[in-house]
Amino acid sequence: MMIRAVARSLIRGGSFHRHTSMAVFPARSVDGFFRSRRTMMMMMMMMSTDSSPSSYSSSPEKTTSLKEKEDEKKETKAQSNAMVSSYWGVTKKKITREDGTEWPWNCFMPWETYAADLSIDLSKHHLPKTFSDKFAYRTVKILRIPTDLFFKRRYGCRAMMLETVAAVPGMVGGVLLHLRSLRKFEQSGGWIKALLEEAENERMHLMTMVELVQPKWYERLLVLAVQGVFFNAYFVLYLLSPKLAHRIVGYLEEEAIHSYTEYLKDLNDGKIENVPAPAIAIDYWRLPKDATLKDVVTVIRADEAHHRDVNHFASDIHFQGKELRESPAPVGYH
Ligand SMILES: [Fe+2]
Ligand SMILES: [Fe+2]
Repeated sequence: MMIRAVARSLIRGGSFHRHTSMAVFPARSVDGFFRSRRTMMMMMMMMSTDSSPSSYSSSPEKTTSLKEKEDEKKETKAQSNAMVSSYWGVTKKKITREDGTEWPWNCFMPWETYAADLSIDLSKHHLPKTFSDKFAYRTVKILRIPTDLFFKRRYGCRAMMLETVAAVPGMVGGVLLHLRSLRKFEQSGGWIKALLEEAENERMHLMTMVELVQPKWYERLLVLAVQGVFFNAYFVLYLLSPKLAHRIVGYLEEEAIHSYTEYLKDLNDGKIENVPAPAIAIDYWRLPKDATLKDVVTVIRADEAHHRDVNHFASDIHFQGKELRESPAPVGYH
């Protein structure tokens, strides 16, 4: 039986341990099998998982010390892994949900979660009156044409791709205001935080959509190209005219509300399957455990409406010839 087990192990190339469990040997025959010391040593050699020539030693002391060394190595490795997950030996506090279960996310914490304001007016539209407003509005409408052609009614895919762009303006604006605050020795009125919160919130939209739609290789390539162009273009635009930059984002958010409304229509009509909400979305938006994709799209749309208001507001402040810091930023909503 033993020989058969060894042969099987060699043929399969797997670990001998898997095939030589004690279950292979009936309990009564074990004693008889280990009668001679030599047979026992041979067994130990054969049962060792280390196939290096050094492990085939005839000395029991040497076999023991090799095993000890291996154990030591394993222990050191385990210790070094433990160090990686702690900060200079200070172990992370155990974080739990309200119901006492362990918090599974590192990318956001329970105190960063929130319930979206679903009472927000989704139909608000900033009427473009000035030349720069009309320019911003037209720019966004023109940008929508290739998006419609490329994605058509594939709203999951469309949302995922657009969120990769939507998370850029807040970060660019936040960084530039941060540097301005340092250069000019002045407060930002909360606008750095508000814009960085927007960027983070948009990135969470993306993290959620990625759970539902897996991007294809050419879509990833498109993201690279679009990000390369859009980040630089928006950076330069924000330096030249933050008023125009915020207005463009305001209109982009109006388009996002429209896209998510269409997404909801298709979900209601059964054209898109209303799958369960991803776990990350349930925790981030404090949704009920049985929440579905419809609930997720509804809260994301409310976020977009908030971003619309924040960015039109920021543009209006600049339009009045004032600086953002002069009007307190809407901080703390997302
Ligand atoms: Fe978004
Ligand atoms: Fe947005």
